[in-house]
Order: sequence, then C-alpha cells, then structure tokens
Amino acid sequence: MKVTFLISFILLASSLSVSATEEKEKLEFGYVGSIGPANWHLLSEESKVCLTGKNQSPIDITSQDLKTLAKPPPAEFKNAKDVESFNNGNTVEIFSGKEGVPLPATIQVDGETYDLQQFHFHTPSEHRVNGKHFDIEQHLVFTTKDEKVSVVAVFYDVGKEESKFMAPIVKDLPKEKDDKKKIEEIDLSGLLTDIKNITAAFTYSGSLTTPPCTEGVTWYVNKDAQVVSLDQFLGLREVTGFNSRFTQLRSNDTTKEKHVKKRSLYKFDRFLK
Ligand SMILES: *[C@@H]1O[C@H](CO)[C@@H](O)[C@H](O)[C@H]1NC(C)=O
Ligand SMILES: *[C@@H]1O[C@H](CO)[C@@H](O)[C@H](O)[C@H]1NC(C)=O
Ligand SMILES: [Zn+2]
Repeated sequence: MKVTFLISFILLASSLSVSATEEKEKLEFGYVGSIGPANWHLLSEESKVCLTGKNQSPIDITSQDLKTLAKPPPAEFKNAKDVESFNNGNTVEIFSGKEGVPLPATIQVDGETYDLQQFHFHTPSEHRVNGKHFDIEQHLVFTTKDEKVSVVAVFYDVGKEESKFMAPIVKDLPKEKDDKKKIEEIDLSGLLTDIKNITAAFTYSGSLTTPPCTEGVTWYVNKDAQVVSLDQFLGLREVTGFNSRFTQLRSNDTTKEKHVKKRSLYKFDRFLK
C-alpha cells in the first residue's frame, strides 16, 4: 500500500503537465479490501468527502422520486467514428481516443453546454430503483469547460434481445488493465432515441461514484432499463467484474435507512450454469 502511494505520488509530482482532473483519475482505488469503497475516504485529502459528504451517489430511487421526473436537458448525440475503449482497471471506458477531444454529444443544463468526455459501465448498477439493482449501469460523463459535471445514467437488464448499441463495444473488449481497442462506430444518436431524449429520467444533485467522490454532479438517471443479451452482459461483466459502490444515505431523505438497508436481491449467480 505505502509503496503504491509513494509511486503514485512520484508519478504525479513528476508529470507537471497533467491537469487537475487527470490527477484525480490517477487515484488507485478498487472495490474490495483496503482500497475498496468503505476506505475511499482514506485515499487522499480530497477523497475525505466520500465519507463526510451529504450529497453522495449512488442512491436508491423510490416511486415517490419518480413522480417528479427531470425537465429533459436538451441533447444532441451524433454517431462517433473511430473511438477507443480503454480498460482502466476498474471499468471499460469509451472515449474519442484523442486527449482533450470529447465525443460528439452534448446536453444543456441550466443553459450551459456540457460535452460528453467518456462513458463507462458498472456491473451491477450503482443506482437502484425501489431497492432493485439492474445488471448494468452506463454512465455518460459530460463536463463544461470549467469542469462542472453532469452524468446521464442508463440501466440495462439481461433479456432476450441483443443491444444494438452495445454490440460494437462488447465485440472486442479490452480485457486487461491498460488495454485499448479501436471501435469503428458508436451509435450515440440511437442511444438517445433508446432513452427517449432523456424524457424519463430522475434528476438530483449528487457526486462522482468513484474517488474522490466530488459533489455538485447533476444526475439524470433514466428510469427504464434497456435490454442486453446474456452473452453481451457476461462478456462485459467478465472484464468489469464487480464495480458498484454501495448505496449512499441521503441527507434529506425522511425515510432514511429503511430503503438503503433493504436487501438488494441482486443475484449474479443466477447467470452461472
Ligand atoms: C427526440 O428528439 C428528436 C429531435 O428533436 C425528435 O425528432 C424525436 O421525435 C424525439 N423523440 C422522442 C421519443 O421524444
Ligand atoms: C434534496 O432536497 C432538495 C431540495 O428539496 C432536492 O432538490 C434534491 O433533489 C434532494 N436530494 C435528493 C438526493 O433527493
Ligand atoms: Zn461511473
């Protein structure tokens, strides 16, 4: 542990050109043991908010919440050509493949334009709906020029049909940490259609679900799950493993722990033969 921190520190200190965001991304974390979610607040000064924060994500979204859906953020998603998928050790991330170049998708939040920097996957989902986890949660991470963050979340559940959107991604996944793969085309405009132009999403102000758990993130969690085939899911899950942060308490939730403590009933082993 100490050695890892020392090495990360030397790496950070010696690469003067990296931006603050990139430094944040270099934090070594995982989903089990001493670098797992219960200890993320110990990883750095900045990540203390993982424990002390009052607006942490993910949360359990209730039927009550779903009575007030988001005002849809105006969105424009275009198909992305020649992109890259990257295995960062905790998830598979799809980005333009070129540093500082966003993917061709934007949303408008409070009149400001947010660009899609990357999207990635969590298995099982991080957010829950009425206590239930979904098999996959996709996070589309949008930022403004001054680094405000908004995340559009899309659930997927295993069903009979393949997801056309997922097909080119799961066809050739980067299997090992730091592996990269080229993807010819990603149908982002098809995804926007699948999620009905973000017209059925719950919005709230939360945080990044990975260290440093920075707050002030505007979430749009699409309530309806998309469908992936079992093979598509298992292919992705084999690479991402378990990478889902536990449900966070809300400071302004009057029912508090009741639905957080409710067992998730998520059973990955139902897929194992
Ligand atoms: C989504 O937006 C496009 C472009 O504005 C429109 O043509 C389409 O009908 C919308 N679809 C839905 C499901 O709202
Ligand atoms: C907490 O309350 C505020 C204001 O009432 C609301 O806007 C916000 O979405 C709530 N947060 C959550 C996580 O429900
Ligand atoms: Zn995420």
